[in-house]
Amino acid sequence: MELLRSTIFHTPNNPFRSPDTFVALEDGGLLITEGRVTGCADYSTLRTTHPDAVVRDLRGGFIVPGLVDAHVHFPQVRIIGGLGYSLLDWLEQLTLPEEARLADVTYASAIAGEFVNALAAHGTTTALVFGSHFAPATTALFEAAEKRGLRVFSGLVLSDRLMRPELHQSPDSAWRESKALAERFHGNGRLGYAVTPRFALSCSEAMLEVCGALLRDDATLRFTSHINENPREIEEVERLFAGASDYLEVYERFGLTGPNSVLAHSVHTTNEQLVRLATSRTSIAHCPCSNASLGSGVMPMKRHLDHGVPLALGTDVGGGTGFGMMKEALQAYLQQRVAAEPFTLTPAQMLYLATRAGAEALGLGNQTGDFTSGKAADFVYLKPVAGSVLDGVLKHTEAPERKLAALFTLAGAECVREVRVAGDLVFHAA
Ligand code: GUN
Ligand code: ZN
Repeated sequence: MELLRSTIFHTPNNPFRSPDTFVALEDGGLLITEGRVTGCADYSTLRTTHPDAVVRDLRGGFIVPGLVDAHVHFPQVRIIGGLGYSLLDWLEQLTLPEEARLADVTYASAIAGEFVNALAAHGTTTALVFGSHFAPATTALFEAAEKRGLRVFSGLVLSDRLMRPELHQSPDSAWRESKALAERFHGNGRLGYAVTPRFALSCSEAMLEVCGALLRDDATLRFTSHINENPREIEEVERLFAGASDYLEVYERFGLTGPNSVLAHSVHTTNEQLVRLATSRTSIAHCPCSNASLGSGVMPMKRHLDHGVPLALGTDVGGGTGFGMMKEALQAYLQQRVAAEPFTLTPAQMLYLATRAGAEALGLGNQTGDFTSGKAADFVYLKPVAGSVLDGVLKHTEAPERKLAALFTLAGAECVREVRVAGDLVFHAA
């Protein structure tokens, strides 16, 4: 039994519903027994009730729940920073040529290693990951995630039109290869399988039918794709699926929405579609860095919240600008401040979006996302670099909410000192 002593922040309740439920323990204790949280309270209380626990003094830093990235592409690590494109040009000129290189499994394995290292080094303990169009490369990702000890849901990316021909597969092979990967990795330790058509634009009706059949065959699989990201993309989808009233209806028609589904972006979503998303409990992964970088637009968060659509955050690497989920939450805050319908996220809401909301979207809300007793001990230990601007700000800040706001504003990967999943060390700063 281990007792960690530090300032602790977490959001066991949804601060969008009840703003006062942010938990800040200035001199906190996190009690861990066999990889699970068995207490999270004031240090002195836990010390008294558990005198035998081995204490680690981590004062001067902050423990927060492991960060959850609800939308990120593993084959795109090496194309981060491709500025100046819009979605469809970016795909054609930069992204798909790189994704085609993952046909070489040696190359794919190197990328998978870099990818899981980057997740862990940024404090991300759980991620819903777009795999590769190639089964061996997607296997390499699952194996790298397993070796690192991260919670990763991923799947073979499916397309049968309008991409580069080498990225296409037939609906038959999509079925066979997805089935084989799901059988091998779904529910295997911390891994899970997500049916992953790239987007409606790159999939025929037959391919989306395969996706629906995979989900019907195993109702515990997750589903992920893109929606309403870019006006040209939306126009093309509506032209290709002439019978559908809008982009969302394409996914609905094939049974691809619901509580196990996470759709990325939702920048140009109508209120009528928001009602349908909320009704089906489909989650949206909000990816503000990517939305700004690719000029996709400002996501209407207030309308999503008003309609009760479940929201999480994704870095969308490599359309996004890096792996930092704290930075992603800050970017959400900044963009919503100046959105057409502005909304001011509180630090507690930012923490919730970066942790518990992602866990809920992935159907892992009872396992991770906060420090409720019984959950896995998934956490990040952040410590400001001595003498840094953040260090100075924190020394002059009293209120916990202000400290959390300063962390979101100034804490980068250099502050991530230790990351653990179910108590196991997955990253330790040198
Ligand atoms: N839509 C289809 N593929 C992609 C992708 O790789 N990134 C983003 N941001 N949108 C997509
Ligand atoms: Zn994406």
